[in-house]
Amino acid sequence: MSIRYDGKVAIVTGAGQGLGRCHAIALAARGAKVVVNDLGGAKDGTGASSDAARAVVAEIEAAGGEAIANGANVAQYTEVEGMVQQAMEKWGRVDILVNNAGILRDKSFTKGGLDDFQLVLDVHLMGTVNCTKAVWDIMRDQSYGRIVVTTSSSGLYGNFGQSNYGAAKMGVIGLMNTLVQEGAKYNIRVNALAPTAGTRMTEGLLPEKAFELLTPETVTPAVLYLVSEDAPNRTILAAGAGAFAVSRIVETEGAWLPVEEQTPEGIAAHWDEISSREGERELTAGFEQSIKMVGKAAENLGIKLD
Ligand code: NAI
Repeated sequence: MSIRYDGKVAIVTGAGQGLGRCHAIALAARGAKVVVNDLGGAKDGTGASSDAARAVVAEIEAAGGEAIANGANVAQYTEVEGMVQQAMEKWGRVDILVNNAGILRDKSFTKGGLDDFQLVLDVHLMGTVNCTKAVWDIMRDQSYGRIVVTTSSSGLYGNFGQSNYGAAKMGVIGLMNTLVQEGAKYNIRVNALAPTAGTRMTEGLLPEKAFELLTPETVTPAVLYLVSEDAPNRTILAAGAGAFAVSRIVETEGAWLPVEEQTPEGIAAHWDEISSREGERELTAGFEQSIKMVGKAAENLGIKLD
């Protein structure tokens, strides 16, 4: 069964080139009407031009699809509101949001300034918050929404020189985890893409042969799946070079320590048990952690919980 988006309206941010361009073209090819957003600046976020977004719209139209260009800076909420208004005026709904826009200001934590840190947070984290906020009530009213945030292995696992980027990219996972809960009864699903692709962002960082394998086209199917009607929810899907994997945050079962051992020394003495991977699992709400901890204490102390 083929996955299509006929009648659906999608916004893809940062779609003037790289991964976003590829996502936008593929969504349009499968029937979505697409807002091709792009500020059009340099890799470090300086400058602006809507030429790239317009060129992608022309490409989509030439292939028989429907799209409009938008030059909003995702870090500016008023511009983002204007973008969503543009989509609503033209097509009357927004079903899909792919938060993809991004920049880099790589520097070691020692050398990097706070201005760069703030800018990277503003574009990746606040950009995702802004776009999601601007479509959220529309999706609630429609009882339909599919949102993708773009995370990164740099946030999930770390990467030298990318503390600002990594912090922002992990921030969108925190956003996703709560929005999944708040959106559940409105049929809004939120997932994360962890891509690895040969684009201007990674040019010069990857060996040539790897760069050639890591085309954006090998990543886009992951986004298409994450914004489909039968999409999963709260999933971090890694994709690159045609390989796909799921990343999870897990917590160990842990151990309750007797009162006299609730000390740093006690933790050190029980470290193997506390950190044992046996029984580790993914929690799906913060409160599950409290229930687990209190449950262990109550069991060990012989207290009956209501
Ligand atoms: P890219 O640099 O080719 O494309 C990013 C696009 O976002 C550009 O067209 C740029 O003009 C646009 N943009 C930047 N700031 C913007 C703003 N404030 N408002 C609107 N548009 C803006 O980069 P690429 O590689 O396609 O990255 C896309 C996303 O995937 C980014 O979020 C990036 O962090 C993420 N990512 C990419 C990886 C890779 O291996 N290429 C790895 C992990 C994550």
